[in-house]
Amino acid sequence: MAHFDKAFPFTNKWMDQRLGVNTLQKVLSTEYWIPKNINFLWAMGMVLAATFGLLVVSGIFLLMYYIPDTGKAFDAVNYTIMSQVGYGWLWRHIHGVGASVVFLIIYIHMFTGIYYGSYKKGRELIWLSGMLLFVSFSAEAFSGYMLPWGQMSYWAGMVITNLFSLGSLELNGIVEWIRGDYVPGQAFLGRFFMLHVLLMPLLIMALIVLHFGTLRLPHVNNQDGEEIDFEESAALWKAGRKKESKVIPFNPVFMSKDVFVLGIYFILFFYLVFYHFEFAMDPVNFDPADPLKTPAHIYPEWYFLWSYEILRPFSKDVGLIWFGFAQVIFMALPFLDRSPNVAPASRRRPFRCWFWILLVDMITLTIMGKLPPTDPTFAMIGKIAAITFIVLWLILPFITKIEKLVGGKK
Ligand code: HEM
Repeated sequence: MAHFDKAFPFTNKWMDQRLGVNTLQKVLSTEYWIPKNINFLWAMGMVLAATFGLLVVSGIFLLMYYIPDTGKAFDAVNYTIMSQVGYGWLWRHIHGVGASVVFLIIYIHMFTGIYYGSYKKGRELIWLSGMLLFVSFSAEAFSGYMLPWGQMSYWAGMVITNLFSLGSLELNGIVEWIRGDYVPGQAFLGRFFMLHVLLMPLLIMALIVLHFGTLRLPHVNNQDGEEIDFEESAALWKAGRKKESKVIPFNPVFMSKDVFVLGIYFILFFYLVFYHFEFAMDPVNFDPADPLKTPAHIYPEWYFLWSYEILRPFSKDVGLIWFGFAQVIFMALPFLDRSPNVAPASRRRPFRCWFWILLVDMITLTIMGKLPPTDPTFAMIGKIAAITFIVLWLILPFITKIEKLVGGKK
């Protein structure tokens, strides 16, 4: 920036007098202090922001040739974009792989927050805005899945919108109101197209700004759960006593670490885009939507499987109640965890066990959710995993109340 100031002294002064750009730059970048003791997992937020950027850019290219018409959408995607438009396949692969990988990173980012207790007192709004982002990304992914108008688009759209009839209450009017018809059709595709390309991306952008805003005052947490005096440490850094300071400025020091992690991430990301994109594309969705032919096994994309498996093993109404529970319970985490200790899970007992059981349980639910429900052994494993998930959340307030903190820095 110093070079920029020298080269364009007038521009900088002019902008600063009108927009306070220098203050803004300090608050958001050069004097935005980040703890030294954080690991690569703290780069996941930036990885998410960058992946969202890629999704927006690739989506804009796809939008140039996509046609939201039930008679034309399938060919627009699978024929025009994939084989007639120069590099259309590349934008589609980036978009498909990005949509899948973004959820993997979101889950890593969430579980990092849970492991280090980054949702606790003072940081509740970071967590809540993050959860709103999770819900919005889910709606964005679901609405995007409808657009190729393949067999899975159609039937997953049918199954998920059916949930809004609320089981035995049979509120079919709501389902028809959402679809704009008795079954998914042109009105349905038009609505989900609008949601996917306009409303949800706008909402996500607003929520990302909110999420960043909620981070500014409480500052990011660190891997030891240490309570840092940011003012004192920042003063030490500014006085040149950098070794004694416990913080570094976001720009340029922390950002250079973020950029390094981003570089590695993009190598892996583009490896998937060029060589293994098929993992992000369901083969069943390469058949055009056919309202007269129900696929033998309807399942959502991998990132929704854990909550789908909580819906499936129970009777209709009970399953729906627990499915609703699974959708909202993560939001309540800052209020269900009754322990004031901000520390990594490894030092919090018995929370440590709770964390690892939850992680393994959600992976088990994901695997079981993909298998057809016909095998009784797998159905039983799925049911046990679903019950475990519910029990884990119900006992959380009690086990955090009797928590013991062991070892570590604090
Ligand atoms: C596109 C979505 C998201 C973006 C772009 C994003 C971005 C970020 C960034 C840049 C940070 C600071 C650095 C870091 O800790 O990684 C952060 C922190 C955080 N995010 Fe997100 N985030 C997103 C979604 C989520 C979700 C779904 C959650 C889960 C509820 C979440 C919860 C948190 C928490 C708790 C922190 C604080 C970490 C700490 O203090 O150590 N975020 N996020």
